[in-house]
Amino acid sequence: MSTLQGKTLVIIGGSSGIGLRVAQLAAAEGAELIVLGRNAQRLEQARADLVSAGATVHVHAVDAHDHVRLEVLFTELPAFDHLVSMVGDVMGGGFVAASMSEIRRVMESKFFTNVRIGQLAAGKLREGGSLVFTSGTGGRAQNACASYVGNLGINALVEGLAVELAPRVRVNAVSPTWTVTPFWRDQPAQQVEATRQRFAEAIPLGRTAQIDELARAYLFLIGNGFITGQHIAVDGGIMLGSR
Ligand SMILES: NC(=O)c1ccc[n+]([C@@H]2O[C@H](COP(=O)([O-])OP(=O)(O)OC[C@H]3O[C@@H](n4cnc5c(N)ncnc54)[C@H](OP(=O)(O)O)[C@@H]3O)[C@@H](O)[C@H]2O)c1
Repeated sequence: MSTLQGKTLVIIGGSSGIGLRVAQLAAAEGAELIVLGRNAQRLEQARADLVSAGATVHVHAVDAHDHVRLEVLFTELPAFDHLVSMVGDVMGGGFVAASMSEIRRVMESKFFTNVRIGQLAAGKLREGGSLVFTSGTGGRAQNACASYVGNLGINALVEGLAVELAPRVRVNAVSPTWTVTPFWRDQPAQQVEATRQRFAEAIPLGRTAQIDELARAYLFLIGNGFITGQHIAVDGGIMLGSR
């Protein structure tokens, strides 16, 4: 029997991109889904697509950055087995020219919101469950300042929670690097393609990731009962240097 048969998976950010693919794969393994997202239209489209593929799905529109609203929602959720968080805004550029408000915005999104998610989930997770956060890789401190710090923060959060919640619950993260997903929907297609080419040249494996390759890393971490406190880079080796 699959590890997700009869299990409940909460995906914060399951209405698009990597999180939506995680939802599809988990549903195919028998998980019941609770999907959270901000945009009501995207959420409804994801719900309809998942249901038509045979999934059992409950959706809730919430902005996870609103911690008051998030807390209310968590009190209403039933106990669950696994939670995946796709929440984390990004920024490019170095520290010198960045505005303090932008740095704070990204840290609030990537780090503090996921800390709050971890705190709220801790009381709801069933024994044997797991949390999987989204970190990131590929950028450097000098060209991705608050994103870089936010990713380090997620990696530290994962280590701390892994010990605090052991042996009941495991905690890990997946670190994607730049990938073509709807995340870049507001950028002109030409700009997205230029960035894709730049990353493909910098990545030793010579291409950017498929969404499916990223989503399967979340499923792997959910399913392997002896991995905790880890962040797995699914990045084609970008931090190893160029060929
Ligand atoms: N794609 C990349 O190049 C890349 C690289 C490194 C790391 N990442 C990280 O991977 C994660 C997922 O990215 P993706 O590429 O799959 O993007 P995506 O297609 O835009 O999906 C993001 C999902 O998260 C939801 N979400 C985001 N912020 C939220 C919030 N504050 N409250 C509730 N839901 C929220 C979105 O819902 P709405 O659409 O309703 O807002 C959507 O369902 C992000 O954390 C991103 O920083 C992405």
